[in-house]
Amino acid sequence: FSLQKNNSFAVDTVTPVIYYPKNDQDLQLLATVTSGCFYILGEGSNTLFVEDFTPVIIKPEFLGIHVKETNDYYQVNAACGENWHDLVCFCINKGINGLENLALIPGSVGAAPVQNIGAYGVEIADFIESVTWFDFAENKSQHLFKAQCQFGYRNSIFKQQLKNKGIITDITLRFPKNWQPKLNYQGLKDLPENTSAKAIMNAVIAIRNSKLPDPKVIPNAGSFFKNPLVSAAQFLSLKNNHPTIPYYRQSNGSVKLAAGWLIEKSALKGYQMSGAAVHDKQALVLTNLDSASGLDIKNLAIYVQKTVFDLFAICLQPEVRMIAEQGEVTLGAIN
Ligand code: EPU
Repeated sequence: FSLQKNNSFAVDTVTPVIYYPKNDQDLQLLATVTSGCFYILGEGSNTLFVEDFTPVIIKPEFLGIHVKETNDYYQVNAACGENWHDLVCFCINKGINGLENLALIPGSVGAAPVQNIGAYGVEIADFIESVTWFDFAENKSQHLFKAQCQFGYRNSIFKQQLKNKGIITDITLRFPKNWQPKLNYQGLKDLPENTSAKAIMNAVIAIRNSKLPDPKVIPNAGSFFKNPLVSAAQFLSLKNNHPTIPYYRQSNGSVKLAAGWLIEKSALKGYQMSGAAVHDKQALVLTNLDSASGLDIKNLAIYVQKTVFDLFAICLQPEVRMIAEQGEVTLGAIN
């Protein structure tokens, strides 16, 4: 079974078998599958298949969105198989504000907490109340509250200790009614203070459409690399050499840099190699321009990682998960 339509890089790779569980009973029947090598796939918008074959695929298709209202907040429960952007639109159209900055992020609801999706100053962790987790060893589900999810920048327990141990089946989000717009990001700063959530959502959609390639037109997985953290000392020497470097100071003293800027300064914007390319409008995005294989895209990523390392002594780490026939792999160039 070809997965070309199931990954946003449109890589042509073959899975031995794919399962579509729709409820906990379906998952219980997969116990023998989950004791072997498998990969849980959402909409495939943060995954690069790097070989001609993949492990067994589990693609959950739990559906449903339920809203509860109290005097102070809305509580929204959404099943893992729902589309993320559809959930954002559903909420905003009902007057449930909060997710507007996270509009148009590709992918499914179940995948969203795994890498703690974020954009324009907001992360999903800001709204998570709990995550329903079906544990393969126990063969039943449980609730994990926000603190247990260990959310960090593009990180959570689901990518760490709980990797391949179970499946997120639904999430519960809480939206306080005393909503405040988040307009700190450059492109949103000019919106008036009394802007509606819908207007913010539309502005975010316009920004994303202007910078990020539509995966349906130019296959890609959004940011390929994470923005790197460096020490205050390393940052000072970088800033001496590159006074215009964009940076974000962190509360622990370290400094977050813009990987897209580092790649652009390495003269790689628009660079092409075997059908894979560094996007010409946003260097953090790698694209499948012309029938590249997963390995071609991985090789480009290795080249980018090496080139940036040679120039800045910073080792970019992928945000995209790379999956080989035997499971998850790392980029492996300078690790
Ligand atoms: N920049 C460049 N050249 C580039 C790209 C960026 O100089 O080719 C500079 C920009 O001018 C800016 C800075 O780098 O000063 C940051 O760029 P931008 O605001 O576009 O955001 P980003 O850091 O590149 C992150 C997220 C995006 C998210 C945006 C907006 C990561 C890995 N990426 O990108 O998330 O949409 O911020 O909040 O954190 C994704 O994860 O797939 C994704 C698209």
